[in-house]
Amino acid sequence: MLIKVDSVGDQFLGAELKVLTAVQKSATTPTAKAAKTKAAAPVSSASIDHWSDKGLKEEFHNLKIAKNYKAGKDETLSFTGATGETVWVIGLGDKTKYTAEDLRKSIAKVYKSAKGKFSTIAFDVTGFNVVRDEALACQLISESIHMSDYTFDKYKSKKSEAPSVTVILGHVEKKNSAKIEKALSSTKNICSSINVMKDFINEAPNVLHSEEYARRVEADVKANLKGVKVKILNKAQIQKEKMGMFLSVNAGSAYEPRLVHLTYEPPKANAKTKHIALVGKGITFDTGGYCIKPGTSMAGMKNDMGGSATVYGAFRAAVLEKAPVKITCILAMTDNAINELATVPDAIVTARNGKTVEILNTDAEGRLILGDALDYACDLNPHYIIDAATLTGAALVALGNQVAAILGNDQKWINEILKAAQDQDEYMWQLPIINEWRQDIKSKIADLKNIGTPMRAGTAIGAAFLEEFIKNDVKWAHLDVAGVVDSQSHLPYCSPHGASGLIVRSLTHLLVNAK
Ligand code: BES
Ligand code: MN
Ligand code: ZN
Repeated sequence: MLIKVDSVGDQFLGAELKVLTAVQKSATTPTAKAAKTKAAAPVSSASIDHWSDKGLKEEFHNLKIAKNYKAGKDETLSFTGATGETVWVIGLGDKTKYTAEDLRKSIAKVYKSAKGKFSTIAFDVTGFNVVRDEALACQLISESIHMSDYTFDKYKSKKSEAPSVTVILGHVEKKNSAKIEKALSSTKNICSSINVMKDFINEAPNVLHSEEYARRVEADVKANLKGVKVKILNKAQIQKEKMGMFLSVNAGSAYEPRLVHLTYEPPKANAKTKHIALVGKGITFDTGGYCIKPGTSMAGMKNDMGGSATVYGAFRAAVLEKAPVKITCILAMTDNAINELATVPDAIVTARNGKTVEILNTDAEGRLILGDALDYACDLNPHYIIDAATLTGAALVALGNQVAAILGNDQKWINEILKAAQDQDEYMWQLPIINEWRQDIKSKIADLKNIGTPMRAGTAIGAAFLEEFIKNDVKWAHLDVAGVVDSQSHLPYCSPHGASGLIVRSLTHLLVNAK
């Protein structure tokens, strides 16, 4: 799929499919002109005044079906144009209420129904520019198309062989060309990173075990992220780091654990440059360990590395976009498997920071690997940390599978992240960490235990546990993405099954705009 910008109009003219918009005419406020000239009642309550192609306008008005067309939100009208091209008119309803996210959604629906049927699809950007910023409108359209275009068919004997399609962003103003090209190249950087993240999540767990996952991240960095330093700790080095919690999760595995440590420095770094660390849970498969999950809850647990894929996706996009901050990315990788060496419940282990932890449930493993990874990250003295993890099923109970949970130790930092999410139309909602829940993870015989009261505030208890491993006054926020990493059937630009690609946009936006 190729996206082209057309400010001249000739490419729009020659397209096989033209996609334009119509808006609802307000019934109560007739236009001044109509009132003055006492014009006959409009034949249609849909307005297409913004179309620049006069011929097309006339064709529309001559249509019988146009008379009953109201241009309601997503109400679509289709006709064949004079030169045999297909024309789709997409209703926006009340234009003043039409949002950027509405635009992403309807472009995705249009693209998915057009893909494979037309070799050129041209959008009339003027009509889709509901955000009153042409470059931003082009960005939203291309973002939606890139995300909708993703497929994971490497294991299908028969590939989805949709013929290649050219997308034309038509009728843009020439003076905006440079800005639009810049917006499109940023979108490409972000969406290619989202695709890499989705590929990692969708990959089968027997293939993407910890050792392979680390190799693939390293290969991607080497191929695409010039100047990024890669350090990968193997089992012996993780032992040397005394990451007792991390190692306890890996104890039953056929594979070595990996701690991937990536460093990016911006082009003009100085003593004042902000340093942000991203930390991700990379459980390549979560059986639950000896506290084994029932089969129905275990299937899908290949997604348990989704937090690490999310922060890697954001790191990758931010590097490609030359973010103005120093970024460290730490990915803790292992599966949570069972063999005769696997950690049993009641085991007591010592964390990297020296705290002893009674493991009462081997299925609460994410907090164990992340606790050690967070302590390691704090030693690098970042100003800020964000961790992302598919940490708790309780996040789905609290916030469904549409909303990510955010918790942390610094309200300003949390607010910045919430703002970034809002800007990108991704859902995040803050949950509290209260002292009572901090008490709930104190063990009778060790410093901590890895679970609190069963069935109570599970997401916050998980965060309270992680907080025990934050030091040096680092401002920290935790994202529980258990619900949002996959199966976003309500969003037409995400696949209904498999990795969603969500949250990468929010974190990238945050990193790129950090000062
Ligand atoms: N990986 C799971 C959390 C999860 C559940 C992610 C469902 C996505 C969908 C995590 O390791 C886990 O098993 N958490 C336990 C914690 C409990 C034992 C305190 C849970 O949520 O049941
Ligand atoms: Mn688990
Ligand atoms: Zn898990």
